[in-house]
Amino acid sequence: MKKVIAKIISLGLVLGMAGAMAACTSKKGTTVKSGTLTMATNAYFPPYEYYEGTDIVGIDAEIAAAIAEKLDLKLEIVDVEFDSIIAGVQSNKYDIGMAGMTVTDERKKAVNFSSTYATGIQAVIVPEGSEITDVDTLLGGDYKVGVQQGTTGDIYMTDDVGEDRVVRFSKGNDAVLALSTGKVDAVVIDNEPAKSFVAANAGLVILPTAYVEEEYAMCINKDNKDLLEKINKALEELTADGTIDKIIEKYIPSNG
Ligand code: ARG
Repeated sequence: MKKVIAKIISLGLVLGMAGAMAACTSKKGTTVKSGTLTMATNAYFPPYEYYEGTDIVGIDAEIAAAIAEKLDLKLEIVDVEFDSIIAGVQSNKYDIGMAGMTVTDERKKAVNFSSTYATGIQAVIVPEGSEITDVDTLLGGDYKVGVQQGTTGDIYMTDDVGEDRVVRFSKGNDAVLALSTGKVDAVVIDNEPAKSFVAANAGLVILPTAYVEEEYAMCINKDNKDLLEKINKALEELTADGTIDKIIEKYIPSNG
């Protein structure tokens, strides 16, 4: 009897230790919620992320799903303000931020970035017939420019023309709405969302000249090197087997 009890106790100890180790890995290891890849995004950014009914779909959602599948994790997408994504990744609220997010040196001080999976362009939207016909006219004149708060469009415009001329919105489409109703003279936003906003709102056009070219990547907590490596490996495989191209082509037909 004693022996049996001793066995049970030692089994309990072993199980307890295994449990403690598992808890330890889920806390310090790959993901903040064990078995789940928690992705923060801002889902008003077609074709990268947008709502179809209650589902968040788009290029980022599909690439993240393919990565999660490779890592044997369940994907959970959380829709938050764009300018809260990096802080949430830093505080381990989310595993990754994926939101058509541009890699910048400033952001690299706060988070790590995966390999890039797409390129973006900051484009300028104006009303049809606007006297703003190129980027120089926009920068040189006394125009008000709408941007999504905390995006590179916001950061670069604020640098180039100053606080007073930049009007910030929580969503890109709110900036476009303000343009439609004459509250701002132009909107600076990523090219692909720009195309879909212009298609959805009559009387707007995209200037043929680009403002800035950029690269998109996922951001990950600086301490989570393990996840960064796994994601980069998955991305490499998904690029090599054509999955990434196929997803991008689905949402941006005959891109490039
Ligand atoms: N590429 C820009 C940036 O990183 C804008 C991204 C906005 N993304 C979004 N899902 N709303 O700042």
